[in-house]
Amino acid sequence: MSTLERSTEQKQAEWYANPAGGRSEQPAGPPEPLENAAAQVPVRMSAEGLTVRYGVSTFGIRDVTMALYDRKVTALIGPSGCGKSTFLRALNRMHDLGRDIEVTGDAFLDGESIYAPGVDPVVVRRRVGMVFQKPTPFPTKSIYENVCAGLRLVGMRKRSLLDEAVEKALTSAALWDEVKDRLRSPGGSLSGGQQQRLCIARALAVEPEVLLMDEPTSSLDPNATMRIEQLITQLKRQVTIVIVTHNMQQARRVSDYTAFFYLGEMVEQADTHELFTAPKESRTQEYLHGTFS
Ligand SMILES: Nc1ncnc2c1ncn2[C@@H]1O[C@H](COP(=O)(O)OP(=O)(O)OP(=O)(O)O)[C@@H](O)[C@H]1O
Ligand SMILES: [Mg+2]
Repeated sequence: MSTLERSTEQKQAEWYANPAGGRSEQPAGPPEPLENAAAQVPVRMSAEGLTVRYGVSTFGIRDVTMALYDRKVTALIGPSGCGKSTFLRALNRMHDLGRDIEVTGDAFLDGESIYAPGVDPVVVRRRVGMVFQKPTPFPTKSIYENVCAGLRLVGMRKRSLLDEAVEKALTSAALWDEVKDRLRSPGGSLSGGQQQRLCIARALAVEPEVLLMDEPTSSLDPNATMRIEQLITQLKRQVTIVIVTHNMQQARRVSDYTAFFYLGEMVEQADTHELFTAPKESRTQEYLHGTFS
């Protein structure tokens, strides 16, 4: 019987029974560089032994060590509940906002721990932006004010600077031409695909270095999906991107690297072409071949 054919309960029971309790005995070192030429690319963010526990018994992710390469797109794939969103949230300290959530291990941005004492999570979230599965604009606020939201939080008040930043962010999000004549209309008046690009513009306005996207196209039609995928390809010239997707074709189209998660662990990370054509781990092979879902 393959590793992946056992029942989820059985696998989870074995997993939780590990007496190490989600922490490796040894402190995790930095991630091993990937075995290909592109691994020469600088690392922008990394996780070392990153573990997130919800309450006492549920691990969201366990002991994840991996690198996110500068101005590359990394796709996270894996079955529902394997910890992809939990991992993303740990990369911009979103778990600080939840209750009974314990984060151990570490994550680094430009070599500096984002969990070190004295690091302001608000600053981390400005540098590491996030876009969610369902577009989340402020529906009654204007398109203009939606994009400004983060800039106002960091104290930008001058009208000319705000105007400039709004145009720049909407242009980067490939939305400017569609909304430039209706900036005062509510964010909620846009189509789903436009709302998602508005959320991307809002995230880009504060000029993050890393953009985390959690299934950004799962609620969109094929046309809107294609626009977001094209946008990701343009954005990676300036930002390091992590995208969670259940769409394997999408992962292959947009990402440079792919990481496969399973039961809270990062099983394998590789160059996208390599991971899809010659995965090293049997669990990755079985997932990609549809032996389980
Ligand atoms: N707020 C929470 N409280 C308790 N447990 C949670 C919470 N969020 C996630 N979990 C648990 O952590 C594990 C990982 O969940 P996570 O949402 O990260 O998975 P995922 O890979 O993003 O799944 P999906 O593909 O369905 O979005 C699951 O067992 C889930 O039930
Ligand atoms: Mg998720």
